Amino acid sequence: MKIGIIGTGAIGGTIAKKMVAAGHDVKVSNSDQGDKLDARAMELGASPATIEGVVTDVEVIIISVPTIAIPTLPKDLFANVLENVIVVDTSNYYPFRDADIEEIKNGKVESVWVSEQLGRRVIKAFNNLLAETLENGGREPGAYDRIAMAIAGDDANSKKIIAGLANDAGFDTVDSGTLSESWRHQPGTPAYCTELNAKELGQALSDGIKEEAPIIRDKAIAGLSSLPNYPAHPDVVKFNRGLFEKNPKSV
Ligand SMILES: NC(=O)c1ccc[n+]([C@@H]2O[C@H](COP(=O)([O-])OP(=O)(O)OC[C@H]3O[C@@H](n4cnc5c(N)ncnc54)[C@H](OP(=O)(O)O)[C@@H]3O)[C@@H](O)[C@H]2O)c1
Repeated sequence: MKIGIIGTGAIGGTIAKKMVAAGHDVKVSNSDQGDKLDARAMELGASPATIEGVVTDVEVIIISVPTIAIPTLPKDLFANVLENVIVVDTSNYYPFRDADIEEIKNGKVESVWVSEQLGRRVIKAFNNLLAETLENGGREPGAYDRIAMAIAGDDANSKKIIAGLANDAGFDTVDSGTLSESWRHQPGTPAYCTELNAKELGQALSDGIKEEAPIIRDKAIAGLSSLPNYPAHPDVVKFNRGLFEKNPKSV
């Protein structure tokens, strides 16, 4: 497929590498338009593009920037992008990083807010996998330890296509419902960055409690920040699982 990715950081860069490795035609853009973008694109095996160019002549656009950067994207970004082009949002809202976004703080589902900012329907995907999980956790279809990614959105066909890209990257998927249900895999939920298989993820998605998620998210950040050193990846996953007594893998 022809894929344009905005954001070449931890998650956008890893998605780009994975999609290139799977044989997709990938272009990338970030906040630089010069040598730094060219060097990063080369490192990822993708083509560098301007922000306008990255959304042109593609079938899927993946937006992978911090939530706070979403309103800084050009207002007319999608003016010439056909309705059948799928737009994916990977973002997670963290107040300590993204500052105050009142509507989200007041309970608006994060990707619903993103969709409103962009004036465009979005699919929420790739947000419940840590970049390191995406980089190294992929397995062949049918593997006993294949990790699953949650996908939410209002268009079944778009979700099917994005599930295909996740499969190419080595992951099963679980449909988490409409975009308004995507809080089920926001930070502070048992489905968030806990490396579960499809059956376990289905359970975790239904176990989440919307009102508690921001409290647990902030508790998790405080807990991780209070450690003398940031833990290694397996310990971060263990920590995330341990936030929920009922998590299928919390022990
Ligand atoms: N890290 C993870 O494990 C992970 C996992 C799942 C989801 N997420 C979520 O995905 C989003 C991105 O996370 P990340 O960790 O990849 O962040 P990151 O490493 O900080 O990378 C952010 C990327 O966004 C680009 N960017 C920022 N503002 C931009 C703008 N106005 N126009 C174009 N590009 C812009 C940056 O460009 P420059 O390179 O030029 O600075 C950078 O490439 C966040 O919401 C995060 O919560 C992260």
